[in-house]
Amino acid sequence: MLAAPINPSDINMVQGTYAILPDLPAVGGNEGVGEVLEVGSHVTLKPGDWVIPAGVKFGTWRTEAVVSEETLVKVPRDIPLLCAATLSVNPCTAYRMLHDFETLKPGDSIIQNAANSGVGQAVIQLAAALGFRTINVVRDRPNLQELVDRLKALGADHVLTEEMLRRPEMKDLFKRVPRPRLALNCVGGKSTTEMLRHLAFAGTMVTYGGMAKQPVTVPVSSLIFKDIKVRGFWMSQWKQDHDQNREDLNQMFLDLCALIRAGKLSAPFCSEVPLEDYKVAVESSMKPFVSAKQILIM
Ligand SMILES: NC(=O)c1ccc[n+]([C@@H]2O[C@H](COP(=O)([O-])OP(=O)(O)OC[C@H]3O[C@@H](n4cnc5c(N)ncnc54)[C@H](OP(=O)(O)O)[C@@H]3O)[C@@H](O)[C@H]2O)c1
Repeated sequence: MLAAPINPSDINMVQGTYAILPDLPAVGGNEGVGEVLEVGSHVTLKPGDWVIPAGVKFGTWRTEAVVSEETLVKVPRDIPLLCAATLSVNPCTAYRMLHDFETLKPGDSIIQNAANSGVGQAVIQLAAALGFRTINVVRDRPNLQELVDRLKALGADHVLTEEMLRRPEMKDLFKRVPRPRLALNCVGGKSTTEMLRHLAFAGTMVTYGGMAKQPVTVPVSSLIFKDIKVRGFWMSQWKQDHDQNREDLNQMFLDLCALIRAGKLSAPFCSEVPLEDYKVAVESSMKPFVSAKQILIM
């Protein structure tokens, strides 16, 4: 292994609260990039190839692994290491949610909360590359302007706090920007209900994360008068469903790598931490307002 991030789902897996759990004893970490050192007979991968896990439960927080070829996907070596290490979960999730739920065209808008998350940053960049306008919601914080500037530098069109979503000025925003047909929910609770109110008629809200650990409350008016659709997405399930025929998976990786090479998709804001300092990295990954993905460097 060369590098592997610490994602919230990795922590949930260690806590035993995730939907998929490995048999114990197990190595943590589901995402990362490694280099092939040696291969057996009848293996098409070659020493020197860069590889990422094809599915979940790989256990990427380690220096070495002996695995079968089917558990890996080859990635090109001409993309930055940190992009390769963070490619298989968050950018893929952003890609699928932008392509699989609503048919959007350039100029359309989307809205998302936890816009500074790894997924949120990928959504901003992929949406900008597709010509979609993004309305990005983040939690208020002392250094808000710094975060707003960072997200705008990635291509965010509008960055708002959860409180701003409730203000009457939102009406002015929607005189300039079409109401979003797609809302991406990473949080739950109040943040989600407020976001939902701004969806266009018959729009879709996709829940992919529950960072606030609170249920989603849908106002009945949104269902009756606006006919909104409330959906969920789980990348692990998608990968499982597409494991036999990997055409869509490979196409997605090709598209994402092309965007990385074109400078349109970067790795999330991050801190690189040597593997031996994993305790510090795990603790930092669970603190609020850090805005930096912890990436273990082997
Ligand atoms: N369904 C799927 O297939 C899928 C795929 C990838 C990720 N996910 C999920 O998506 C979520 C984000 O993952 P990630 O790797 O992008 O995370 P990340 O980079 O670690 O970012 C976490 C985000 O959650 C926010 N947050 C934390 N606690 C919060 C709270 N109580 N209320 C509101 N916001 C809160 C943080 O905002 P602050 O800066 O304000 O702390 C930050 O924006 C996780 O729940 C993860 O499990 C799901």
